[in-house]
Order: sequence, then C-alpha cells, then structure tokens
Amino acid sequence: MDKFRIEGGYPIGGALRVGGAKNAALPEMAACLLTAEPVELRNVPQVKDILTMARLLAHMNVEVSGPRADGEEARVDLRAATISHAEAPYDLVKTMRASVLVLGPLVARTGYARVSMPGGCAIGARPINLHLKALERLGAEITTEHGYVEARARRLRGARLLFDRITVTGTENLMMAAALAEGETVIENAAREPEIADLAVLLNAMGARIEGAGGATIRIQGTSSLHGATHAVIPDRIAAGTFLVAGAITGGNLLLRGVKPDHLGAVIEKLTECGVVIRVENSGIRVEAARGLKSADVSTEEYPGFPTDMQAQYMALMTQARGTSIITETIFENRFLHASEMVRMGADIALHGNQAVVRGPTPLTGASVIASDLRASASLVLAGLAAQGTTIVDRAYHIDRGYERIEEKLQELGARIERISG
Ligand code: EPU
Repeated sequence: MDKFRIEGGYPIGGALRVGGAKNAALPEMAACLLTAEPVELRNVPQVKDILTMARLLAHMNVEVSGPRADGEEARVDLRAATISHAEAPYDLVKTMRASVLVLGPLVARTGYARVSMPGGCAIGARPINLHLKALERLGAEITTEHGYVEARARRLRGARLLFDRITVTGTENLMMAAALAEGETVIENAAREPEIADLAVLLNAMGARIEGAGGATIRIQGTSSLHGATHAVIPDRIAAGTFLVAGAITGGNLLLRGVKPDHLGAVIEKLTECGVVIRVENSGIRVEAARGLKSADVSTEEYPGFPTDMQAQYMALMTQARGTSIITETIFENRFLHASEMVRMGADIALHGNQAVVRGPTPLTGASVIASDLRASASLVLAGLAAQGTTIVDRAYHIDRGYERIEEKLQELGARIERISG
C-alpha cells in the first residue's frame, strides 16, 4: 500500500489549477445510462473514484474512453448504446458507495436495476433508504435480497416527493430517474449543492426539462428519451478548499486557478474569520498566511453551509490557531477518525459526541499516521505539512480516490512530500 512521506515546516507558494469536481463528474458519468447517444465530459478529474465509475459502466457494456488528458483538462467519452446487464456488483460498490448513482438511471432506461447494497463506511452508516423510498414514489417496485437491491418499473411515473432529510446522491438519483419518467416530478427538500445544479445543466443539455436545481425545490418534466451532449464539469470546491487550508497552515502564498469562488462562500468566510487572508482576483483565489491565526467554531451543514467534506482539513488548521474551537459535525455520525491521529502528532483535541474541541496552537511533530477516509487523509497531509519532522501517512489510496496526484501538485508548490510505493 502506498504511503506519503512529508517533511513538514516549509511554506508552500505559487499557482495551481484546480481540476474538475469528482462529486459532479460521478453522477454525470452515471447520467450516460439515460441515453443511447454519446455523452462527452470535459474537465473530469483523473482520480480513482472516476476510474471505478468507468469500470462499473464498462461492466454494463457502456463504451468508455478516458479519463484522458486533453490539454490541461481530462475528458471522458461514454456511450451506453445497449446495456447488457443493469447491475452494480458488490466488488465495485464496496470500493465506492457512489456506485449507487446508477440505480435511478438504470431503472428509468431499462425498467430494471440490481445494485449491491452499500454497507456502512468509516464515516457513518450511510443508508440508502431515502433513495429507495423516492424511487418507490415514482412507481418502482423495490426488493432487497442477498445484499442486493432490485428495482423494477415498466415506466416510472412522475410524483411529488419530499425528502425526509437532505441527501446529495439521493437527489441526483431521483433527478436522473425523473428525467425519463412520465409526467412531472417535484422534489422538495432537495440538496442544493453546486454538483446538483451542474448535473441538471448536463441533463438539460441531453434534452431533459429540469428547473430549480440548486434550490430546495426541483421540478422535472419527464420525457421519453434523451440525447447525447457535451459538458464541462465544474471545478472541485473541496479540492480548492483543501489547498486554501494548505496555504494557510504552512504560512504560504498560493493562487488557485480555475475555481468558482461562489461555491466556496462558507469556507472563505470561515477562513477569513480565522485571520487567513483570501482575495478573489481575476485569475483565481489567492490565499496568504494569517498573521496570528485565531480559532473559530464551525458546524457542518448542507450547502450553502460549511461542508462536512472540509471538516477534517479545518480541524488540522485549528490545531495551529490561537484559542479554542468547537467543531460540530452534523452530517455524518462518525467523521472524527482523523482527530486521534492528529493527537498523536501533538494536537490537543477532545471529542464529545458530535463535537470536537480543539485547543491551539500546539506544535505538531511528525509521526506515522493512518488515513481512514478520503478527507481524513487530506487533513493528515495538511497536518504533516505543518509539523516539524517526518510524517508518514499510510493508506494513501484513500487520498487517490478524490485528489489528482496530490503529492505532485504539492511538490510543484514547494512542499516536501513524496509517495512511497509499496
Ligand atoms: N442518509 C440517509 N439515508 C439516505 C441517504 C442519506 O439517512 O438514503 C443520511 C446519510 O447517512 C448522512 C446524510 O443523510 O448522514 C447525508 O448524506 P448524503 O446522502 O447527502 O451523502 P452522499 O450523497 O452519500 C455526498 C458526497 C459526500 C459528501 C456528502 C455530504 C458524493 C459522491 N458524495 O454523499 O462526499 O460528504 O454528500 O455532502 O457526492 C467525499 O467526497 O469525501 C464524500 C464523502
């Protein structure tokens, strides 16, 4: 298993282009199942989860080419001319929960889908009951047997539905299914993440009629067929946020190109409150080190609130801030596994249920630590960049799921980080 070795204590600086959003590209790849015509996606990040989705689609007989470099961007060409088996097998689902995104499009296009139930994962139980309940509202007959969900419907029918709880991939699954349903679907209490709005842009380019995506109420007029389209994926706001923290935690000066500052509102606001200097310039977002980083409390919320996917990175930063910060995690029930690893590096963090109390600043010293999930591993790399001495972050595969060649990008910015293959 690959590891990262980091020599901490050096500021990073320079300019960096942020790639496309993994969490937008994944549902957009699944959307190719809705049409027999080609779908071409640009600005797709070359990360492990994208390769897993490509494998999953290829398993169903989708012609997949890419992701491959096309100038500065990477593109993927997809064509689901015929779908041979409408199935997401356990082997792929267990490595990536987002595989469940094929459920809605498959049942809408072929009338049948068989998807392995994702189990719990490091950050929480993460059930898919809301996806299933919503598909049932559209007329799908759902059964679960032998660890698989099967969904059947001759033709889905539009319906009004209200999600009991905001779910990102649940909203995406439903939006895709409803695009090919008969009649109108209205989704209330929809997730408002920019990735949802971006998926709607693609679906509308494919001939769907979706209004209101990005807001709490989404209206979809179903249609009997969709066609091919070309679409550029939005920039990755979480990768961008991670690099903002990298700049701040190392006392660096960094320009991030190819980002959408609007998508980072809560993150920029919180970092600014902590004394980090962030300027939105024509060419991107610039982050400069804070003089006297100060603590601030934060609570994760659904978009447009502070993202749970930035909580671990923010915790790393708070270990270096003056004062006490209370970090409340409201989205996932077990997303603090990075805290105990940071404590091993010298941080002062106490956990009380869904709250972490971080007292800073504490000098961090390099240690061997284990990454437990994607964002936790990013936070440990950040802590390593700020620590004195050598940090080894084990299980680098977690970070490869969602960050493109992170060690090369950080090296270009002057960080001393290398991958140890093994
Ligand atoms: N939930 C249910 N039932 C459901 C669906 C969700 O109880 O049927 C609960 C979850 O257990 C969780 C909450 O609702 O407590 C919100 O989960 P959500 O469904 O919104 O999460 P997700 O769609 O599975 C996406 C991202 C995650 C990100 C969350 C929250 C993708 C592919 N994944 O997951 O990204 O943390 O939204 O913003 O879009 C990551 O990139 O590292 C990552 C984990």
